[in-house]
Amino acid sequence: MTENISVLGLGLMGSALADALLSAGHHVTVWNRTPAKADPLIAKGAVRAATPAEAVEASPLVIACLLDYPSVHEVLQDTPLAGKTVANLTTGRPGEAREAASWAAERGADYVDGGIMAVPHMIAKPGALILYSGSSAAFERHEQAFAVMAEARYVGEDAGMAPLLDLAMLTGMYGQMAGFLEAAAMVTSAKYPLKEFTTDLLIPWLNAMAALQPDWAEKIETGDHSTEVSNLEINRAGMENLVRAFREQGVKPDLLLPMKTVIDQRTARGLAHEGLSGLVEELYN
Ligand SMILES: NC(=O)c1ccc[n+]([C@@H]2O[C@H](COP(=O)([O-])OP(=O)(O)OC[C@H]3O[C@@H](n4cnc5c(N)ncnc54)[C@H](OP(=O)(O)O)[C@@H]3O)[C@@H](O)[C@H]2O)c1
Repeated sequence: MTENISVLGLGLMGSALADALLSAGHHVTVWNRTPAKADPLIAKGAVRAATPAEAVEASPLVIACLLDYPSVHEVLQDTPLAGKTVANLTTGRPGEAREAASWAAERGADYVDGGIMAVPHMIAKPGALILYSGSSAAFERHEQAFAVMAEARYVGEDAGMAPLLDLAMLTGMYGQMAGFLEAAAMVTSAKYPLKEFTTDLLIPWLNAMAALQPDWAEKIETGDHSTEVSNLEINRAGMENLVRAFREQGVKPDLLLPMKTVIDQRTARGLAHEGLSGLVEELYN
C-alpha cells in the first residue's frame, strides 16, 4: 500500500530512511535545513518542501530524524500537527520522548518514538531493527511503511520505552566492547596475534557466556540470586587475580575496575554466596 510520507532531516540516517521509503514506492516529501542534501532524493522522485510546515502539510505520516530533541522541537514548533502522526526517530532519552508525546498530543497529533538499531547502510536490509513505542494505533496504521526501513518492533504505549531499550542495548554493547578492549590490551602486551585470539578463542567464549544471561534475567526478575555456577566470592578472587595480572603485564585494568568495585561492595555486605546476577541490586538508587 502506497502512503504519503514526509521526512524531516536528511542527514546520513534521514537520507537512508527516505531513500528506503522511495524505493518501496511511497510518495515521499522531504525537508532539510540545508536544502542541497535533498538533491539526490529529489533526483529519485522525492518532492522538496520549502519549509517544515509544507512537509507536514503534505503527508499524514511525518518522520523526523534530526540531531536531537531540541532540534525536533525547533523544527516543528510553529507547524500545525492536528491529525498527523509524528514518528520521531531521533535518538534521545526516555524523558524527552515522553515530553515529546505530550507536546504532540496537545497539538492533536499521534506520536510514536523510535530507536534505530542500525547504521545508515543497514537500512532496508536484513539485520536492521527499529524499536517503536507510543500510540499503538498510529504504529499499526503505518506499520507497513515502517517495515520498509527496518524490522519494526513495537514495545509499548509508554513513548519512553523505545529510547530506554535503545539505550539498554547500547549499554550491553559498550560493556562487551570494554571487555574486548581490555582483553586486546592484555593479548597484544604478550605479542599474541590478536585477530586469531578474537576469532578462535574470544568470540566462541563470549557466545557461551551470553547463553547464561537469559537465566540471569530470570534471577533478576525473581530476586533469587542463588547460584550453582559460580558465587561472588570466587568472582571476587578472580577479579583480584585479573587486576594483579594486568598490572604485572604492564596493562591498566581501568575498564574492568568499576565491575570489581561493585563485586567488592556486594561481598562486603555478606552476600558472597550469591551469583553475579545479584550485582544488579547494587545499581538501583
Ligand atoms: N548515523 C547513524 O549511524 C545513526 C544510528 C542510529 C541512530 N541515529 C540517529 O539519527 C539521528 C540523525 O543522525 P544522522 O546520522 O543522520 O546525523 P547527521 O548526518 O549529523 O544529520 C543531522 C541532521 O539533523 C539536522 N539538524 C541538526 N540540527 C538542526 C536544527 N537545529 N534544526 C534543523 N535541523 C537540524 C541536520 O541538518 P543539516 O543538514 O542542515 O545540518 C541533519 O539533517 C540522530 O538522532 C542519531 O543519533 C543515527
